[in-house]
Amino acid sequence: MKKNINQKSQRVYDTYLVSLIKENFLKNHLALYKRCITDITPPCYPTTNDFSIKGRGESYLTSVIDHPYAREEGVRSLLAMLSCNDENYVILDVFGGNAYIARLAKLLNYKGTIITNDISSYMVEITIKDKYPTTWQSADNLHCIRYKSLNGILFAYGAHHLPINRRIDAYKEAYRVLKKNGKFVLHDFSNESSMVKYFKNVVDQFSSTGHNFTHFDETETKNLLTGIGFKNIRSMKIRDDFVFHAKNQNQVLGKCAEYVYYMYCLEKIGDINDPKTKTLILNSVREILGLRVKIFNDQYQCKLNREALVITGNK
Ligand SMILES: C[S@@+](CC[C@H](N)C(=O)[O-])C[C@H]1O[C@@H](n2cnc3c(N)ncnc32)[C@H](O)[C@@H]1O
Repeated sequence: MKKNINQKSQRVYDTYLVSLIKENFLKNHLALYKRCITDITPPCYPTTNDFSIKGRGESYLTSVIDHPYAREEGVRSLLAMLSCNDENYVILDVFGGNAYIARLAKLLNYKGTIITNDISSYMVEITIKDKYPTTWQSADNLHCIRYKSLNGILFAYGAHHLPINRRIDAYKEAYRVLKKNGKFVLHDFSNESSMVKYFKNVVDQFSSTGHNFTHFDETETKNLLTGIGFKNIRSMKIRDDFVFHAKNQNQVLGKCAEYVYYMYCLEKIGDINDPKTKTLILNSVREILGLRVKIFNDQYQCKLNREALVITGNK
C-alpha cells in the first residue's frame, strides 16, 4: 500500500518536472527545442543521488555559488576544446549539476549554446529556475536528444559517478547524438592521480555521502571510444586547480578550506566554523594535492593543485 502511494507521488512529481522542462524550452529556447529535443519524458534511472537534497546537494551548491570562478582554469580549457564562433554551436553538458559550466561560460563570454543535463531532479529544478536550457536524463540514455543534433558533448566533473559497466552505453549515446565531426570531450581524473588518492583517503572517509567511485583508465577509455567509431582520439593532462583570491593569506586559505569542505560535504571532519576543521582540511590538501599561495595582482592567490585527464574524439 505504502509502495503504491510512493509510486503515485513519484509519478505526480515526474509529470510536474517534465512540464517545467518543456515549458522552459517552449517559452525560452524554442529553436533549440525544435533542433535537439525529441520529447521530454522522465529518466528510466533513479533521480535521487548524492546530489539530492538528502545527499550533499545543498552543500555542493554552497561551494559553486560562493566561488563561481574557482574552477575557471579547467573550464576555460574545456570550452576551448569546444570552440566555436556562434550560438548555433550547441553542446550538451551531460553531468551538468546546477549549470555551473553554463553559468561560468556566460561570465567568460563563451559564444556557444550549452544545454545542461543532469539525472538529479534537485539539480534540474535549480537549473530550470534560472531558465537555462535543461534536460533530465542519465548519461547512458539520452532519450530526449535527437540523433545527430549536437556539435559537442561534454562529460565533465562527474563522469566517475556513472558505474563503470554503464560507461560504454554513455559513449554510444554521445556518438549517437553528435553530428558528423562533432566533438566529444571527457574530463575526469586518472585512477593513479593524486586527486583520486584524495577522494579515497579523505572524501570517502569524511564526506556525508562517501566517495567510492572508479575513475578513469586512459588506455581502456581510448580503446572503448575507438571501438564505438570515434576518430582523432587524443588524451592529455590539463591543469584544473581550485583557485581563490583574497586580501590576506588567512582569508585566502579560509576560502580554500571552505570550498573543499562544502564541495565534498566533509562534515565528518568537524564544524567548518571551528578553525581546527579548516586546519585539518588544509593539512590534508597540502599532504596529498599541494597548495601554493602567492601575491598576484595585489592580492593573495591560493591554488590547490589538480591535474585532470581529458580525452577527446570526433564523430
Ligand atoms: C560533481 S557534480 C558536477 C556538476 C557540475 N558539472 C559542476 O561542475 O559543478 C556531478 C553531477 O553529475 C550528476 N550525475 C550523476 N550520475 C549521473 C548520470 N548517470 N547521468 C547524468 N548526470 C549524473 C550528479 O547528479 C551531479 O549533479
